[in-house]
Amino acid sequence: MSVALKTLILMAWLIGMPASWAWADEVPPPPPSTKSALKFAAESERLFQHYCAHCHGTHGEGDGYNSEFLEKDPADLTDIEFVSKKTNDQIFRTIHQGGAGIRKSHLMPVFGNTLSEEEIWGLVAHIRKLAGDDSHPLTLPLGVMKKARPEPISLTRGHVKAFLQWFLKEKSKDELVSWGRRLFEEKKSCFACHRVGDEGGKVGPDLTRAGFDYKPEWLFAWVQNPQNMKKKTKMPNLGLRTDEAIAITAFLSTLKGEVSEIPEEWGPYMETAGDPKRGEALFYDPDGKANCVKCHWILGKGGKVGANLSMVGSSRTLPFLLESILDPTAVITVGFSSMMVLTKEKKFITGIKKGEDDSSLTIFTKEGKLITIPKERIKKFKVQKLSMMPGNYKDILTVREIQDLLAYLNTLQPPILKNLGSPELDSEEEEERAIDIQLLRK
Ligand code: HEC
Ligand code: HEC
Ligand code: HEC
Repeated sequence: MSVALKTLILMAWLIGMPASWAWADEVPPPPPSTKSALKFAAESERLFQHYCAHCHGTHGEGDGYNSEFLEKDPADLTDIEFVSKKTNDQIFRTIHQGGAGIRKSHLMPVFGNTLSEEEIWGLVAHIRKLAGDDSHPLTLPLGVMKKARPEPISLTRGHVKAFLQWFLKEKSKDELVSWGRRLFEEKKSCFACHRVGDEGGKVGPDLTRAGFDYKPEWLFAWVQNPQNMKKKTKMPNLGLRTDEAIAITAFLSTLKGEVSEIPEEWGPYMETAGDPKRGEALFYDPDGKANCVKCHWILGKGGKVGANLSMVGSSRTLPFLLESILDPTAVITVGFSSMMVLTKEKKFITGIKKGEDDSSLTIFTKEGKLITIPKERIKKFKVQKLSMMPGNYKDILTVREIQDLLAYLNTLQPPILKNLGSPELDSEEEEERAIDIQLLRK
């Protein structure tokens, strides 16, 4: 769609906007003082699509793709009868504190640790608009409305290192694991977006074998503050206390799915550590037999057909990395399912789905091109459980070369999680270690 057309649609939308947007009379100029109403409205729409649409649907009708996996139906936000019964404050609180905070289902996540108050008020206005409800003019609490996103707890290297040392000894305590399971399944919304076994949502990765796929220090750091690791992730910060994050990490670490035993034929690859320098050369050599860089992105360099591997050495376990190379289809990274489109002209297009709206599909093709196909030209499309990554590395690379690649991938760690394996804390880390070990033992 051209920019001009988009602007035109937005303008039309604004002109037709219900009175709810007109801030109440006694309140002087519109609160989003630094932004025009137009920009504010566009941002609220974007936030809704990014954080809410998977459950509530693109148009708010409660029919997002994830809704069928939830035990409780997400509210239909276009239902004027439902929406008009709520005050603005009530809707604000629902979004800010999540379902659990207002005695409703925990499957509605908390957003108050992720979005600013201004952004949440924008969403309240957006919901009124979705419902066509102008019965509650929005009077923003001027002066108390915060424009800044909340500052999450800061996680330091000392933190994570202390956690890891303690955790490796204590992790399998039954009470810790069962508390973690309860938090995951019944209290903290995790189940709304993640699958374990045959249950749970599909917004985030399937965690059935989380203990095989992820390192515990990554789980701990990620669940406490996902935005710290990936700024634009759709996963909200659920405001976990440190002891809750530990319990959830303990629970997830016990999950091994069907891979509790490492296959025997993987033995040789893990026997000896490879040479990271040689692995790096192999990874980047465009004429080499691996040419991983053609598809993968590391710290600003490389292709984008495959997953960003900038932190993969901290997040993924060695056996997971090995499996990714030997058998890429075993686990498909979230957001990288390949899809096949058959056009009405009988042309096949394969690529990774990057977006979809009412009228078109956007696909990143194997050749690295981003194309948008109008739906009226599509005869059929199908998401496949197939990886776009070549499946024959086992045959074209030697054991040694794969060991080298693994050694290189393992060096890809952000500073806060780098080389946590060494047993002693240095004195600086000792100082910044903010976790009270007593609290952990509780
Ligand atoms: C993972 C799924 C999920 C996501 C994501 C989600 N919701 Fe919900 N939402 C729900 C469910 C389930 C309910 C129903 C809760 C109940 O009735 O107990 C709900 C209910 C609501 C309600 C009505 C609450 C009431 O008073 O009954 C509002 C308003 C709402 N959500 C807004 C939002 C907004 C805004 C976002 C994005 C910032 C969002 N939701 C993201 C699942 C979700
Ligand atoms: C509203 C949906 C939503 C909720 C609620 C949610 N997650 Fe996530 N989660 C995601 C998405 C989406 C991703 C994929 C992250 C990405 O790549 O941006 C993710 C990723 C993850 C990952 C993998 C991180 C990685 O590096 O790939 C773990 C582990 C995880 N979530 C655990 C949890 C736990 C534990 C909870 C509950 C405390 C939870 N999630 C709640 C959506 C959610
Ligand atoms: C033709 C493109 C392509 C090439 C070449 C390629 N990959 Fe991939 N890779 C992908 C895609 C797409 C995914 C995501 C789908 C999946 O999980 O299989 C992926 C996933 C991965 C993952 C899993 C990431 C995660 O955290 O889930 C790793 C590790 C990986 N590739 C390593 C490599 C290495 C090492 C090489 C070179 C030997 C390589 N890839 C070559 C496309 C490619």
